[in-house]
Amino acid sequence: MATILGIESSCDETAAAVVVDGHDVRSSIIASQVDLHRKYGGVVPEIASRAHIEKFDAVIAEAMDLAEVSPGDIDAIAVTTSPGLIGSLLIGVTAAKTLSWYWNKPLVAVDHVLAHVCSPAIDGGPGIWPAVALVVSGGHSSLYRVDDFNAIERLGQTIDDAAGEAFDKVATILNLRYPGGPEIDRLAKRGDAGAVAFPRTMLGRESLDFSFSGLKTAVLYHVNGPGKTSGGLEKLNEQQIAHIAASFQEAVVDVLVRKTMRALDRTGYDNVALSGGVAANSRLRAKMEAACADRGASLYAAKLAYCMDNAAMIAALGERMFRQGQIVTLELDASARC
Ligand code: KG4
Ligand code: ZN
Repeated sequence: MATILGIESSCDETAAAVVVDGHDVRSSIIASQVDLHRKYGGVVPEIASRAHIEKFDAVIAEAMDLAEVSPGDIDAIAVTTSPGLIGSLLIGVTAAKTLSWYWNKPLVAVDHVLAHVCSPAIDGGPGIWPAVALVVSGGHSSLYRVDDFNAIERLGQTIDDAAGEAFDKVATILNLRYPGGPEIDRLAKRGDAGAVAFPRTMLGRESLDFSFSGLKTAVLYHVNGPGKTSGGLEKLNEQQIAHIAASFQEAVVDVLVRKTMRALDRTGYDNVALSGGVAANSRLRAKMEAACADRGASLYAAKLAYCMDNAAMIAALGERMFRQGQIVTLELDASARC
C-alpha cells in the first residue's frame, strides 16, 4: 500500500491529488483555467503555462492539506509527462522534480492517456480487467484492449478529429460557449436526436478507427447551406439549434457505441471501461449502458470527477507503476507526443 502525490498539467487544468493504494482518493484538487481561455474559444498554450506556474503551489498545498498528509507520508510523486502541451507539461514536471529532490521521494512518469484508460478502475477496482477501454477526450478517441494496468494495446484511434474536438468545433458553429461538449449535452436534451440524419462514419466493416471531421463539416453545411461556412445560424431558432445539437450528439454517440461493441466482438471480452472528458456525456453513458446490458456486458464508466483532466487518475496509475518499480530519475523530461 503506497501513498502517492499526483501532479497533472498537460493542458488547461492545474491538478494535484493524494491517492492511497491506487483507489482511495484522499484529495483531488483541480484548478480549471477555462475562464482564462473562453474568450479565445480554445486553450492558448502560453496563457496555460503561465497559469500553471501561478497555481501549482496552492493546488499542491491544498491537496496535501485536504488529505491530511505531510511530506513524510508520501511514498512517491507521480507526474504526467506526455502527451500534451509541452509548455504546460514542463511546469508540472518541474514542480514534481523539485518536490522529489527536496523531499527525497521517488518519481514516477505517467502517460496521460493511459491514466484516462485506467481511471474507471479507481472505483471499479482491478477486477474490471480484462476490458475494452474507450477513451474519448479533447485530444484522443481511442479503443484499447486492457488485460491489466501494464498490458494495454491500442486497437483503434481517430484518423482526424477527436470526439471532444468535434463537440467543441460544432459548438463553435452553433455559437455556444467554450468548452462546447457540456453545452451540447445540455442543449441536446431539448432537441430531437432524429431530426437531422447526420452521417455515421464507420470506415469499413472491420475498422476500430474513428473519423469525425466529415460529421463536423456536415453540421457546418446543414447550418449554412451546401458549401457555405457562415451566414446560416441567424436564420435558425433555438429549437432548430437544439435539434441540430441532439442529432450531432446522437451521430457521435452511435459511432462510439457501435465501435466499442465491435471491439467486444473482436476481443471476446465482457467489460467496457469508459473514460475521458467526453465520457461525461449523458447520452453516451446511457447508450453505452444500454448496449452493454443488451449483450450481458458490464460498463465501468469513470466517475464524473475523473472524466475531465485530474490528478487522481495520475496518482492511481502511478501507484501501480511505483509498486512495480517503475521509478525515473531527475533527468526526466516531458514530451508533447505519446
Ligand atoms: O479529458 P479532457 O478534460 O481533456 C483532454 O485530455 O482532452 O476532455 C475535454 C473534452 C472537451 O473537448 C470537452 O468539450 C469534452 O471533453 N466534454 C464533453 C462533455 N464534458 C466535457 N463532451 C461531451 N459531453 C460532455 N458532457
Ligand atoms: Zn485528458
